[in-house]
Amino acid sequence: MEHFFCQPGVASAGAVGGDVRVPGDKSISHRALLLGSIAEGTTNVRGFLEGADCLATLAALRELGVNIARQGGSRLVIHGVGMEGLRAPSRALDLGSSGTAIRLLTGLLSSQPFDSTLTGDALLMRRPMERVAAPLRQMNADVRTTNGVAPVHIRGGRVLKAIEYELPVASSQVKSALLLAALQASGRTRVIEPTPTRDHTERMLRAFGVEVLRTGRSVAVEGGQSLRATNIEVPGDFSSAAFFIVLGVLSATNGLTIRGVGINATRTALIELLINMGADIRVRPRSGFKGAAGALEPVADIEVRASPLRGITVPESLIANCIDELPVFAVAAACAEGETLIRGAHELRVKASDRLAAMAQGFGHLGVEHELLPDGLWIRGGAGFSGGSVDSHGDHRVAMAFAIAGARASGPIEIRDVANVATSFPGFVQTAQSAGLQIEAL
Ligand code: S3P
Repeated sequence: MEHFFCQPGVASAGAVGGDVRVPGDKSISHRALLLGSIAEGTTNVRGFLEGADCLATLAALRELGVNIARQGGSRLVIHGVGMEGLRAPSRALDLGSSGTAIRLLTGLLSSQPFDSTLTGDALLMRRPMERVAAPLRQMNADVRTTNGVAPVHIRGGRVLKAIEYELPVASSQVKSALLLAALQASGRTRVIEPTPTRDHTERMLRAFGVEVLRTGRSVAVEGGQSLRATNIEVPGDFSSAAFFIVLGVLSATNGLTIRGVGINATRTALIELLINMGADIRVRPRSGFKGAAGALEPVADIEVRASPLRGITVPESLIANCIDELPVFAVAAACAEGETLIRGAHELRVKASDRLAAMAQGFGHLGVEHELLPDGLWIRGGAGFSGGSVDSHGDHRVAMAFAIAGARASGPIEIRDVANVATSFPGFVQTAQSAGLQIEAL
């Protein structure tokens, strides 16, 4: 699958709609693998995302000596080895294109008694790793990057000490890497965030019996705690649901429902932004999600209906909570009357691609008036999209965002280099077709 080909518009009025489900949450799936592996006992996982990124983490953990059985229907059984049970890998760990995998594993492996090398594909080898390595060195770890990027070399056998660290960028990956290293450090490690980032690591550590102390913008963990196995149900990924939320907002005259989606508040700023633009979105919490035994994360069905949108200025305080949704949000903005301004989103430049540049380039080919800013995008919406050919730059979220643009295009859209959609959303084309989008993978 190299290209998506989207026919303009939708087949007929009311063609977009119905019910869809999206695969399991990528962030939560990675964390279930990592924490289940270092826990004492057997962890059962349901709803695991069988996407390339999470499968790379799974393969790395097997290489580190963890027995993980894959059962049908996205179920895993992880036979945890405990905090001290990982064994030296016999080769470099290849994390594919997963930023989450390489950063969280760098944190976890920095306290191990053995050496390891972490690497990945060409996209991953461009992404900054010093943001994790530098604070780990402050903890006395021996972590070396290659001119700031992967391969990352970790020398084992270091005794880590707790630090207090103020994150220079709002990054859950860096926070999580430090919390994983903190489990083996002497003393209490405290991480202070500039704005709240996704808190799946903290929630899941608690589910595994670890005490996590949260006060305001800071989160702290005392070293020396062990993890007790638990069972984990992974909700649908809000970031995958986002494509269908925007599709519904643009085209579902009779409504579109996305079922079983994780609605952790550190992830769902897209809903707030779209509602501020005039969207008709209803979030229906699943009965019993609040405090239900073993429930780590709130889950809901999300109902959306087409309505006219108007442009907005995105509050910078919300950027971290919609960082992965900004490409598809930009597609919504291109269909909204008036101007939309996104600022404070430098981080989009160091994701799987430079997502600001990739969206701006695609908008250029699809006739959307816009300006690329150092840390964002300005968009004048309302005219919709012409047809044209756009390059996803191998970035799954850019590819899927432009696929959604097809619903409001006046000519066919071809999207190139889409194989990486499988990193986060295997089955995207089938789900999009079932929701009424006229899309084919060629
Ligand atoms: C993720 C955190 C985010 C996000 C990424 C997944 C995670 O990255 O963009 O897709 O699972 O922790 P940053 O924390 O680096 O912003």
